[in-house]
Amino acid sequence: MISVVVLISGSGSNLRALLEATSAVDYPAHVVAIGADREADGLGHASDFGIPSFDVPYTSFSSREEWGEELAEQLRAWNADLIVLSGLMRLLPESVVDEFGPRIINTHPAYLPEFPGAHGVRDALASGASETGASVIVVDNGVDTGPILAQERVPVLPDDTEASLHERIKPVERRLLIDAVRRVATGELDLTTPA
Ligand code: GRF
Repeated sequence: MISVVVLISGSGSNLRALLEATSAVDYPAHVVAIGADREADGLGHASDFGIPSFDVPYTSFSSREEWGEELAEQLRAWNADLIVLSGLMRLLPESVVDEFGPRIINTHPAYLPEFPGAHGVRDALASGASETGASVIVVDNGVDTGPILAQERVPVLPDDTEASLHERIKPVERRLLIDAVRRVATGELDLTTPA
C-alpha cells in the first residue's frame, strides 16, 4: 500500500475519481492528503472523504520559488510515496521537482507531445485535429515533457466546444491515472526507469 498526495487547482473531478478508486479494499494506494495552490473547489472532496487538505496560495508568495518552498515543506511533512498533479494549473519550481522527482506524476488532457501546456484542449480544438487524447507522465523540469507512462487517443467531434471536448477527455484521464497509480503501487511501473 503506497501513500499518495494529490495537488489540484480546480474542481478536482479527476481527483474524485481517484479517491473513489482508492476506496476499493484491493486498490494498492491511498490518498493521505490533498493540496491546492488556491482555495480550489476540489478541496471539498477532501472533507467528503475525511482526508486532510492544505492550501498553499500561490498569490500569497512573492515568487514561484518562495511558493515552492512552502509547498515542499508540506510535501516533506506528508512524506508520501507518490505525488499526483491532477489539474494543478501551476508549474512546479525546479527545486520541488528536483527534490521529489521522479515520484511526481501528472495527467494532461492531450496526446503528448502534442499540445503541451495550460491550454491543451483549446489548442487541439483550434488546430482542427480530428483526434487528441489524454496522457499520464512523469513530471520533469519541462512543460509536460516528462516520460509518458500512459496515453490514449480521444476523438474530436465537429461540433465540439473546448468544454465538450474536455469532458470527453477527462474520463479517459481518470482511467489512465487510476491505472498508473495502481501500477506504480504494485511496482509494475518503476518511475526511475519508466521508459
Ligand atoms: C484535467 O483535464 C487536467 O488534466 C487538467 O485540468 C483538468 C482538471 O480537471 N490539467 P478537474 O479539476 O480534475 O475536474
